[in-house]
Amino acid sequence: MKNSEKQGQTNAAQPKESQSKDIKNNSKNIVAPAPDAATDLKGLFIDSLKDIYWAENALVGALPKMADNASAAGLSGAILEHLSITKNQVARLEKVFDLLGEKAEGKKCEAMAGLLKEGDSILLETTPGAVRDAGIIAASQKIEHYEIATYGTLVAFAKAIGENDAAKLLTQTLAEEKEADCLLNDVALNLVNIVAAE
Ligand SMILES: [Fe+2]
Ligand SMILES: [Fe+2]
Repeated sequence: MKNSEKQGQTNAAQPKESQSKDIKNNSKNIVAPAPDAATDLKGLFIDSLKDIYWAENALVGALPKMADNASAAGLSGAILEHLSITKNQVARLEKVFDLLGEKAEGKKCEAMAGLLKEGDSILLETTPGAVRDAGIIAASQKIEHYEIATYGTLVAFAKAIGENDAAKLLTQTLAEEKEADCLLNDVALNLVNIVAAE
């Protein structure tokens, strides 16, 4: 009995020691929060909504150029269709802000800004035709995957804080982003087949 008590005491003491050692070792990496940092999940949820609101608006501005540079009719058509879906997603986000009693406002999304910059680089680095189309699809799928990850998180956050109406709206957008990704896959496979047949 005494042995097991000792054993228990020893086990309990060890993690505490190693934990405090870890905190001490990593203390130089701890980032001091900004004055407006989120203090709860609802705050982080609203920040993330502002981020994707900026991103969707940036896409509304960028998609026409991508469509103009696509050669395959299927690809430019798919991009233009996603442009109208994206405009609707912006309006849907405004409804989500409304449900939360928050003003709809964007906050620069560095990830989307980077993805769009990469999309521009791909246009410069490819000649028009099948190769540029393949580049446009690659850039677009990176964007869709970013959106899928973002909306997946937003749905989970909304559910976690009991904002079920917001979760339903965000789930609709998540489904649209997944569909767009599938459509791009189909176009890519057809494009690869066309290029392979030449
Ligand atoms: Fe979107
Ligand atoms: Fe999208």
